[in-house]
Amino acid sequence: MKKAVKFIGWTLASLVMLGLVAAFGANVLAERKLNRTIDVQAAAVAFVSDEASLVRGKYLFESRGCSECHGADGAGRPVIDEPNGLRVSSPNISPGPGGVVSKYTEVDWVRTIRHGVKPDKHPVFIMPSEDYNRLTDTDLAAIVAYTRSLPPVRGEAAHIALPLLIKALYAADVIPDAAEKIDHTLPPAQAVAEGPTPEHGAYVANMCKGCHGGSFSGGPIPGSPPDWPPAADLTAATTYARYDSLDKFRTMLRTGKRPDGEAIKVMPFPSLGALNDTDVEALYGYLRTLPKSASR
Ligand code: HEC
Ligand code: HEC
Repeated sequence: MKKAVKFIGWTLASLVMLGLVAAFGANVLAERKLNRTIDVQAAAVAFVSDEASLVRGKYLFESRGCSECHGADGAGRPVIDEPNGLRVSSPNISPGPGGVVSKYTEVDWVRTIRHGVKPDKHPVFIMPSEDYNRLTDTDLAAIVAYTRSLPPVRGEAAHIALPLLIKALYAADVIPDAAEKIDHTLPPAQAVAEGPTPEHGAYVANMCKGCHGGSFSGGPIPGSPPDWPPAADLTAATTYARYDSLDKFRTMLRTGKRPDGEAIKVMPFPSLGALNDTDVEALYGYLRTLPKSASR
């Protein structure tokens, strides 16, 4: 009996030790991955400040997610605060005090937005740079022009607290960061004419890939909190059964609701609702051309 108690005691103690070692290991490995050095050969995109670029830049800043995460004034704000301990605030990207971009050069902007690599050569973790990798030079220059034109406001650098499980999954490459998902050797995307065409729609649809996947087939979003539903399969015929007209699709993007009135979770509707009619029509046309999965 005594022996058995002793044995159980030792087993428990070993398990606790193992747990501590695993936790320590996950911490160290995740920190190491977040602090790894990434060398990307990014080509600078020249700063512009003409009126047309500022107008286009404001539109992209609002419709592609920058303002939703960094705030309309760029000051940075809390982005995620989940019960599992995942807490993220975005940094101040205005030219004001506490901002992280005051020393940004032309190439720094390109490296961060298009490649997910900060000037210190470490990766961004939350920001979906994979969605921005295919921005044309003109659109990238416009976003940068608008961001640089924001009135200076006070703010802070990013704060990111990760639960141990996310650290372990990140360290094990189950949760990749943007820099891992991006093909850094691709040349910048060639511009396509803006209009309600599938070609332009494919360009707009890049902003859906971070969640719906590179082939739009959806599924669980890696690293997402447990209460997030999987992203819908945008290649499934059943998804389009609900959106059999452009009108219904546009209403969904602008209200955040399914045609039956039910609220859709997780989708970044403040940004998606800012998409203009041309982008929405092009997007809808493009998504409908995707090969449909046979089983659904
Ligand atoms: C989903 C939220 C999200 C979206 C969308 C987003 N960002 Fe970020 N951004 C962040 C967070 C969080 C960080 C801190 C780095 C990280 O991801 O770990 C960051 C970092 C940055 C940085 C500073 C990197 C550094 O040097 O520390 C810049 C510049 C930036 N974002 C610009 C933009 C622009 C421009 C857009 C739109 C094209 C954008 N962001 C879209 C969340 C976001
Ligand atoms: C931040 C992650 C995220 C982004 C970005 C995102 N989605 Fe989603 N999307 C989701 C999730 C999660 C669901 C499932 C929501 C639910 O079941 O309540 C979803 C559901 C959908 C649905 C199905 C809605 C329904 O009726 O059930 C469509 C259509 C859709 N997304 C299209 C898009 C398009 C188009 C874009 C880009 C313009 C996009 N999404 C960007 C996460 C995202």
